[in-house]
Amino acid sequence: MTEQQSSTSKQPPKMPGALPLIGNMLKFGKNPYEYMNMLRSKLGEIGEFRLFHQQMILLTGPEGNEAFFRAPDAQLDQNEAYKVMTPIFGKGVVFDAPPHIKDQQLKMLMPGLRDKPMRTYSKIIVQEVEEAIKGWGETGEIDLLDFMKQLTIYTSSHCLLGNEFRYELNEEFSQLYHDLEKGMHPIAFIFPYLPIPILRRRDKARIRLQELVTGIIEKRARKTEKSDDAFQMLIDTRYDDGTPLSPHEITGLLIGTLFAGHHTTAGTAAWITLELARNPKEMERVLEEFDQLYGHDGEVTFQSLREIPIFERVIKEVLRLHPPLIMLIRKVAKDLHFKDYVIKTGKYVCVSPRVSHRIAEIFPDPEKFDPDRFTKERQEDAQPFSWVAFGGGRHKCSGNAFAMLQLKAIYAILLRRYNFELVESPESYQDDYTEMVAQPGSPCMVRYTKRTNIQQDKAATINENSAANTESKPNCFKVEVDYDLCQGHANCMAEAPEIFQVDDKGLLTVLQEAPDNTLLKKAQAAAKYCPTSAIKINQD
Ligand code: F3S
Repeated sequence: MTEQQSSTSKQPPKMPGALPLIGNMLKFGKNPYEYMNMLRSKLGEIGEFRLFHQQMILLTGPEGNEAFFRAPDAQLDQNEAYKVMTPIFGKGVVFDAPPHIKDQQLKMLMPGLRDKPMRTYSKIIVQEVEEAIKGWGETGEIDLLDFMKQLTIYTSSHCLLGNEFRYELNEEFSQLYHDLEKGMHPIAFIFPYLPIPILRRRDKARIRLQELVTGIIEKRARKTEKSDDAFQMLIDTRYDDGTPLSPHEITGLLIGTLFAGHHTTAGTAAWITLELARNPKEMERVLEEFDQLYGHDGEVTFQSLREIPIFERVIKEVLRLHPPLIMLIRKVAKDLHFKDYVIKTGKYVCVSPRVSHRIAEIFPDPEKFDPDRFTKERQEDAQPFSWVAFGGGRHKCSGNAFAMLQLKAIYAILLRRYNFELVESPESYQDDYTEMVAQPGSPCMVRYTKRTNIQQDKAATINENSAANTESKPNCFKVEVDYDLCQGHANCMAEAPEIFQVDDKGLLTVLQEAPDNTLLKKAQAAAKYCPTSAIKINQD
């Protein structure tokens, strides 16, 4: 940025109505989404408001999102903005760790979210769903959000924490997790250690959870047989200097993984049923797709869960309309320039997936539930950073592949056993913004009825080696990697080892930049399953 540019940069326009001391807190606190939406319609893609003493700049739209997600940590500091997580994850863990430690800790989480363990997780999820609906009978009513919360805490803890937490410590763990979750209260953003009951319970839960984790580490150390869950990977991993993680750090990282795997998935899982029940035609298409794929008792495997295009578009549309994180925040550590504006050091800058996802110029008729907006023909999300439900850039949620796997596995089982319908009027089901993570408001009652009409005209054969069957064409294609986005997840290597190689430190090497077309499908799968969208396939 030149001096000329910086001296001509304008300050972002301000929202009127800020009161002394509390600023715009009253209106914002009542409904953060409505407030941010109003800000965009009044001020455009950049605008300022104040929460108590903190000046917040909201950026919306693909360009605003891109400026936010692409800025380096040294400029937009995630750690400062997420101090609310320190009492939950622990001191010195993730957002409270110096950048070089945080980077290593986040990399340590990745092996548990890679392709190989995912294969085991799909089996566990299927088993958990079957177990959860075992006693349902012919018909009944449930609070869908409660059901999904319970189910996803079982699936996430079973997959990521292992058998001890799932079977031996189940009830205590659920309570502790609940207390930690409640500790993510909006007030904790401003006053993380305010001595109020919910924050005290949060702190007690963190201490107890660490005691439990320490007990399991000691117990596992005495066993000869090794577990292969994410927990064990954290026990075995080492920092670059060879130091192992402490029980305090392992506890924090496990909580972090669970929050990524569970916290946002329950609400999305519930919204899928609600939106499908509101839109019977879409429900019909989804049922047909699942029936073709699995019928009444076809095996639900990791491989078969990978390509479910109609249902994948449904998930994407649900996440467009109901992104669980309505707001992501960073603290400006170095002036950020956006178009003609400068956002000054010390302010907070935020983006809102929910506001950006409802921009009519990008997503026409934005309130309509229309999964086909993501078909190849329409691709309404073609502009980068227009759909940001999982965040974007190098900090894109590492748990997104696990979240997608969970949602697909849950619905592959649920929808072949039961039909769902709403108990209340369709418009009464709305998001609740009183928590940090938006979810359908309670109660969220639905009626289920056993299905008797499964059609499986032709069982779809899932060919594990479909990639190898790609028709051979003489031409080649280009593989481009945005190394700024690559975080070493290594899903690309699992999909196309002929093209991508990732070492133990997560460093990626592209072995062939212009592979033969026989590898096209594999390369496309690598691009699709890269959690940070770092790979582009160019066929021109
Ligand atoms: Fe990097 Fe994505 Fe591969 S993050 S290692 S390009 S899966």
